[in-house]
Amino acid sequence: MCGIVGYTGSKEAAPILVAGLRRLEYRGYDSAGIAAVEDGSLEVRKQAGRVSVLEELLRLRPVKASNGISHTRWATHGPATDVNAHPHVGGRAGRRSTAVVHNGVIENHASIRRELEAEGFAFLGQTDTEVVAHLMARELERGDDPMDALLRVLPRLEGTYGLAVVTADRPGEVLGARLGSPLVVGVGEGEHLLASDPVAIAPHTANVAYLQDGEVVRLTADDFEIRHRERGSVTPRIDRIDWKPDAVELGGHAHYMLKEIREQPDTVINACRGRLVRSEGSARLGGLNLTARQLRRARRVVFAACGTSWHAALVGEYLIERLAHLPVEVEYASEFRYRNAPLDDRTLVFVLSQSGETADTLGALREAKRRGHPTLGIVNTVGSTIAREADGGVYLHAGPEVGVASTKAFSAQVAVLTLLALHLGRLRQLSFSEGAAIVDAMESVPALIGEALKAEPIVEAAAESLTKARSVLFLGRDVHYPVALEGALKLKEISYIHAEGYPTAEMKHGPIALIDPETPSVFVAPRGPLHAKTLSNIEEVRARRGPIISVGVAGDDELASVSDHVLPIPDAPEVIQPLLAVVPLQLLAYHVARLKGCDIDKPRNLAKSVTVE
Ligand code: F6R
Repeated sequence: MCGIVGYTGSKEAAPILVAGLRRLEYRGYDSAGIAAVEDGSLEVRKQAGRVSVLEELLRLRPVKASNGISHTRWATHGPATDVNAHPHVGGRAGRRSTAVVHNGVIENHASIRRELEAEGFAFLGQTDTEVVAHLMARELERGDDPMDALLRVLPRLEGTYGLAVVTADRPGEVLGARLGSPLVVGVGEGEHLLASDPVAIAPHTANVAYLQDGEVVRLTADDFEIRHRERGSVTPRIDRIDWKPDAVELGGHAHYMLKEIREQPDTVINACRGRLVRSEGSARLGGLNLTARQLRRARRVVFAACGTSWHAALVGEYLIERLAHLPVEVEYASEFRYRNAPLDDRTLVFVLSQSGETADTLGALREAKRRGHPTLGIVNTVGSTIAREADGGVYLHAGPEVGVASTKAFSAQVAVLTLLALHLGRLRQLSFSEGAAIVDAMESVPALIGEALKAEPIVEAAAESLTKARSVLFLGRDVHYPVALEGALKLKEISYIHAEGYPTAEMKHGPIALIDPETPSVFVAPRGPLHAKTLSNIEEVRARRGPIISVGVAGDDELASVSDHVLPIPDAPEVIQPLLAVVPLQLLAYHVARLKGCDIDKPRNLAKSVTVE
């Protein structure tokens, strides 16, 4: 959540800082601001609203400097107002010495605030961040080096932070500090950047150094220096961003969400590249760092994740139980970390995360590690905290996902989980020919998703029938139950229509009370062993005059005869059907939101990457 950008070099900073914010706007977008040192004095421009509002403010009141920090906010403490927008300025009246932007939460801000107020520091807003600015200012009053001042401030802070700081006395320096909220340094020629996400850095340099928890950085135009709070100087490791800056451009699509939905054939190709082993009818996932013997020993699998990643994990549960006969539990990461879930040494613990930064999921990983349990990550973002802290894992290789509503990451996760199920199955009871059939099926997925995407005009027509709905039920059986959950989540996130997912047969145990002509039901109903039962459940809804939208196999006349709209997908083996069935549901949510005029890539109250608990 929230985006941070910092710059120091020889160029004009404001356009770079604002362009960086634009690229991070998907991470939080209720206010935006920048601070820079111009002719020895701190200049701050900030305002509630989108980055475009800040741009207008800068047009009226430009800032001329070659250094600075900027921020786009997702409010935690205090509403989205001008004063609560970051940066926050520290110092006593008439001596504004420092400006700070912050991601994360300072949990003990109230007591620090009382202490600082007693010493004469005046607070303007309600954020937890303002205390950091004044603490910095208080340390600087002693005439300290800013980096030393920051190192003395940090032990006072309880909670999480990614911080960027500029001080009036050292215009060429940008400082950063990280604890639980990501920061990355961009290493350029005669310039350095700081950002909460490499997406903001990519247009300037592919060379980056990810900060670790407890580290502090000082950037100047020509150099950067990292120190650990307790352990002193750190030798930075330079990584390369492995995707092109245009991966986060719209490329002619109306929205990032649509672009990412349409990218899914490639997403699956990239997730499977080099991992399907035709000669063995199996899959290879080298990053797990586990031998066949260790995997064979496993008696149970636990997945911890949130949101869409949790839904993908549920698909994994069905597939692993089916192909490998291993019991699987799927946990909400936020519950798992505080529960005392028994874990024995024959349990494999996986966390799944697109961003690799979700605070709850990271907490689950750390809790498993704290208990001495090895943890595995299924993660998209290379170099993210979860990717670095997990003992092993699998990257999704889906490229940056910008749309706040996750789409291609779900497909990449499901693809990787199918490979995992195949691999675990082949170590157990799955025969070569069964495994080889799954390899074939996985290789056919990209083209089949391409087919499913062609039905977009049909989906658009169905979407029109949902724009007035106040509530929609999504229903699926077996491996399609998580797909139904995901369809419901997509619709509610971006169109603000209440939607719930249920196992199809569960509907008659309560939710059926909601059915009436104004409450549509979306059935995920490709062909399979339970198809006839699903048709009966559809009849039950029809009998109560509930409108029906079905996701079904093209040419399924029986399904068409009981549905108001059929969103067609190609016929395919059951194991890959979730990868196809989710596509029309993503498109359905997208088009409902579009027809309702919603802000699809920046849905209200949401932000990409939830780095607070
Ligand atoms: C849904 C969505 C969220 C995320 C959840 C986990 O569209 O984006 O529900 O799936 O916040 O995020 P990651 O996968 O980054 O851990």
